Amino acid sequence: VSVAVMISGRGSNMGALIAAALDAGFPAKIVSVISDKPEAKGLEHAREFGIEALAIPRSDYPSKADHEAAVIAALDASGARIIALAGYMRLLSGDFVKRYAGRMINIHPSLLPAFPGLATHERALAAGCRVHGCTVHFVTEGMDEGPIIEQEAVRVERGDTPDTLAARVLEAEHRIYPMALAMLARGEVRMSGDNRAQFAG
Ligand code: GRF
Repeated sequence: VSVAVMISGRGSNMGALIAAALDAGFPAKIVSVISDKPEAKGLEHAREFGIEALAIPRSDYPSKADHEAAVIAALDASGARIIALAGYMRLLSGDFVKRYAGRMINIHPSLLPAFPGLATHERALAAGCRVHGCTVHFVTEGMDEGPIIEQEAVRVERGDTPDTLAARVLEAEHRIYPMALAMLARGEVRMSGDNRAQFAG
């Protein structure tokens, strides 16, 4: 199954997906990386692996709809069947999300439904959470609201700062994102019409 990864920055989750897909037994192949930020570090990294890496900046287009049309054209041209958002920092329109319903997934650095949105590690610490973590979910219209495919919990340690906590959560992200992508690519999970995750077997 062909996969396109959408990023805005560092791209370490993209890197984890690329690394996992190098394994001959992995059921998905990363065919394209698209960033809305030309300076995203992940673009260079993808090219080092011989993967097509495109910058499609929002500022090159008069409207959000025109920008999304350009992204859709690039995704279609890539032949990707699955879209993996990996630190793509732009909210996608309802039309975009519906087009890829059940085929687009995202990684989020909290145990959803706790802490959707930004600054998740700060907020988990401020709330006094003893457990935090990360989630891979199908993308639906509400931000960070789609059905959950996989999660990993990370204990909050005494003395954790947002940065130390983020670093441990990121390691967990790099474990569960390839796992969740493989589940989707193998057909072990799908999104039903009423936006629920259904697991096979
Ligand atoms: C990750 O924490 C991801 O969960 C969040 O943005 C960050 C992206 O990091 N959505 P990277 O670009 O994958 O290194």
